[in-house]
This record gives sequence, C-alpha cells and structure tokens, in this order.
Amino acid sequence: MASCGVPQTPSTVTSEKVHKTFCISADEKLDFYEKWAESYDQDVQNSGYEAPRLCAEAIGEVLMDKSVPVIDCAAGTGIVGEELAKVGFVTIDAVDYSQRSLDISASKGVYKRLICSKIDSNKIQDIADGAYGGLICVGALLLNDITHEAFPEWNRIVKKGGFMVFTLSKIEYDDDLPNHRVIIGDGIQKLIDNNIWELVNKTTIPYHSGYLADMFTIRLL
Ligand SMILES: C[S@@+](CC[C@H](N)C(=O)[O-])C[C@H]1O[C@@H](n2cnc3c(N)ncnc32)[C@H](O)[C@@H]1O
Repeated sequence: MASCGVPQTPSTVTSEKVHKTFCISADEKLDFYEKWAESYDQDVQNSGYEAPRLCAEAIGEVLMDKSVPVIDCAAGTGIVGEELAKVGFVTIDAVDYSQRSLDISASKGVYKRLICSKIDSNKIQDIADGAYGGLICVGALLLNDITHEAFPEWNRIVKKGGFMVFTLSKIEYDDDLPNHRVIIGDGIQKLIDNNIWELVNKTTIPYHSGYLADMFTIRLL
C-alpha cells in the first residue's frame, strides 16, 4: 500500500479509504464504493469534510435563480445534495454509478431524480442536452474515478452560460505514479484555453483529514 505514495498522515478512516482508492484499479472501484456507502457519512463527518458545503455555497453564489435544475455528479450518499438544498436549490438531480450510495441519497429527500450511471466519455442516458443550469462534482475527480474524459458529457448536459463547481484534491502521488492533478488539471486548462470554459474562480479549500483541494467555478461558454 505504501508504494501508492499517498501520505499516511493525518490518519482518519476517510484518509485511509481515499488512500486505497489511489491504489485500486477502475474495475475494483465500484465494488469499493458500494461497500463504503453504509459507513460513508459517518466516516467523512469524522474527517472534517467541508468540501460539500463550500462547493454548494460557491455554486449558490453564481447561480442566483435557485429554481434552475442542478445535477450532482458522483452524488454518492447525498451529502452535497443536502448542502445544495440548504443553499436554496429546489430541483436537484443525482447521478452516480453506485446504486447502494444512491439508495442512501434517496433517504435524504433532496433529489428529484436519482440516475444510476457511470460518468465517463459516454452519453448518460435520459439526460437531455442542456438540461441543467448548474453541475457540481465534489470529491470525485480522480484517475480511475471521474476524469477529464467526462468533460464533453458535462458540456452536453449543462446549458450554455451555466455554471460548474468541482474539486480537484491536492493529495500528492509519488513521482512514479500518474499524477491526477497534472493529467486532469491539463484537461481543465485545455477547455479554458479553447474558450469552451471560462474560469470564474479557483481557490484552495479545506478538503478532509487536513488535506486541501482546489475548488473551481467554471462558466460554460
Ligand atoms: C468520494 S465519493 C464522493 C461522493 C460525494 N460527491 C461527496 O462529496 O460526498 C466518490 C463517489 O463517486 C462515485 N463515482 C466514482 N467514479 C464514478 C464514475 N466514473 N461514474 C459515476 N460515479 C462515480 C462513487 O460511486 C462515489 O459515490
């Protein structure tokens, strides 16, 4: 496990689980999240997970009309949806490939639609072009989870002029491992350079277990 290069400290159940996600293959990931779903909320609460609240507040600041439909990408157990509801959003959909996580999300009573689908370069079924004024994705941009390859699909389901808020963790890899910050970060920069995305804001936020993340606010041009 140590060869995966993610720092072991500070140690919380969440940091250990996240450490594991750096090491397992894409094929093992879904099973990992299905098993984690039951204890996920408690684990991340114990790790001081502030990113869902900070991201919900960030999208709330740029999307003034809270009746606009918003999609929570990789919604997991619904913590982000609860924060979006606190900010005032009333039409929130969830998409995630873990049905067990979505079942827990459903119990939070904040989502209109729960869509079980992998988020990658493929079209997500049952979502029309430009269906959403906002998209949020917290804690899920990672190699073997959701990568820059999903950005064209995000651009399809978000309305032009709509906003996206997402995190990219600052957790570092060893030099000999693919670095998600470089690879996904390049994917982000390419869309900005090509005037497909406007970078509205990029700021460093507390993530979990003492780690930091970059939080991006993007406008789809
Ligand atoms: C660390 S959890 C974050 C959940 C939630 N956004 C939060 O902040 O609490 C990562 C979530 O991403 C989902 N996920 C990872 N890769 C995915 C993919 N390619 N497509 C759909 N869901 C994915 C997992 O099932 C899991 O629920």
